[in-house]
Amino acid sequence: MTPASRHDLVILGAGSGGYAAALRASQLGLDVAIVEAGKLGGTCLHRGCIPTKAWLHAAEVADHARDGDVMGLKTRYDGVQGEVLVDWADGVINRLHKGLTGLVTTSPGITQVEGWGTLVSDREGLGVRVGDDIIRGRNVLVATGARPKTLGLTIDGQRIITSDHALKLAELPRTALVIGGGVIGVEIASAWRSLGVDVTIVEALDRLVPAEEPDISKALLRAFTKRGIATQFGVKVAGATSTATDATLILDDGKTLTADILLVAVGREPATHNLGLTEAGVSVDRGLVRVNDRLMTSVRGVFAVGDVVAGPQLAHRGFAQGMFVAEVVAHQLGRHADNPVLPEDSTLPRVTYCNPEITSVGLTVAAAQRLGEVKSLDYPLGGNGRSIIKGTTGFVRVVRLVDGPIVGVHAIGQGVSELAGEAQLAVGWEALPEDVAEFVHGHPTQGEAFGEACMALAGRPLHVHA
Ligand code: NAI
Repeated sequence: MTPASRHDLVILGAGSGGYAAALRASQLGLDVAIVEAGKLGGTCLHRGCIPTKAWLHAAEVADHARDGDVMGLKTRYDGVQGEVLVDWADGVINRLHKGLTGLVTTSPGITQVEGWGTLVSDREGLGVRVGDDIIRGRNVLVATGARPKTLGLTIDGQRIITSDHALKLAELPRTALVIGGGVIGVEIASAWRSLGVDVTIVEALDRLVPAEEPDISKALLRAFTKRGIATQFGVKVAGATSTATDATLILDDGKTLTADILLVAVGREPATHNLGLTEAGVSVDRGLVRVNDRLMTSVRGVFAVGDVVAGPQLAHRGFAQGMFVAEVVAHQLGRHADNPVLPEDSTLPRVTYCNPEITSVGLTVAAAQRLGEVKSLDYPLGGNGRSIIKGTTGFVRVVRLVDGPIVGVHAIGQGVSELAGEAQLAVGWEALPEDVAEFVHGHPTQGEAFGEACMALAGRPLHVHA
């Protein structure tokens, strides 16, 4: 094999992490091959972030249609044509897919390969086998993402489903059970409820969105209960059965729950099987690929990013890690002067797009208390003009170390997803509330709630007692 037929980087998986690595590598003048068995864009574009948010947007429009009469609008919600909704969401996906395909195809130095790839590490070096071919590379990046956990239940795709099927449902169920009150569970339950489905969430722990501030979980439970979403906590699932017309969930105390459809949303597991990883010497721990602070695995030259690496499973983390690895490789090959800094998980914004939305960045109050004395302030959206107009309640919580920076921001309320950027800048730049308080926020915006929380923490509140 001549050096010329060896790519600088061969990428396994063209989801958020993989394609971001390919684009950045191309910008840096590397020669890249990207191997994908499905479609460019991966889970985020085809089965995750984008279709879920499309469904949630439709759900919000349905809610607005229902609520129009409050402000004198002659609107009403008469139901949903599932097929049209799925087609419309597919239209959004296709547009983004076309744009992404164009971008990757016109980026210099990227070879796209269709097929299932497996890692090869042999006498000739590293590579990815696709069918009978081996695509050789100086470096290989594993970016194969994650797939739904199933609890060992039989997913028939009709009555017992995962989010993959939920986002393609042409006919909405009348009643639905959702196992798991985490991010996927609450997002899909929220969309279904707005579209008229009778939903019950069953959660193993004692609250919804257990990774969030406990007060956020409480506020979400209140809002969901008001919206007619039923919840059961401390539930242990023993099994599930289905017929042609419904699904039954069996709990370990022998009780059963039946609905038209059962959604399993209990987390996602890294997609690291049948990739030849362990055979090639890559260390894998409970499905997760072990990496060092350069995201390199136990095999020199093999990197891993995104959901296959322990940490929050977020598309934007995949993008950031993919670009990072491209820069590490370019730096090693002498094509990029800077040795990049690994993007931190701790300042990643987390947004859950249920109604009401949740945004959080940084530490909870309890986690911050482990660092020192903490002061936190909740600014109620009930005192924020834009939020009242939107008809939402909730709060923005800013957590600071006493005489120190903002270390956490947690918000709940319809529209607070838009606060993620500012919250992230404040936490990431270790801003003091006093720094933020100097900036005048636009009025009326929901961002003012964040600004006012900082003003209050800085000792000069306007619309709230500190
Ligand atoms: P998750 O980890 O957020 O939630 C799973 C929930 O299921 C947890 O509350 C857990 O306690 C519960 N659970 C586990 N086993 C159970 C059982 N046997 N019975 C009842 N409840 C059980 O996982 P989820 O919601 O599946 O999402 C997977 C990943 O995808 C997450 O890491 C999430 O961050 C990511 N994601 C991100 C989105 C966003 O950024 N907006 C949207 C959707 C998913």
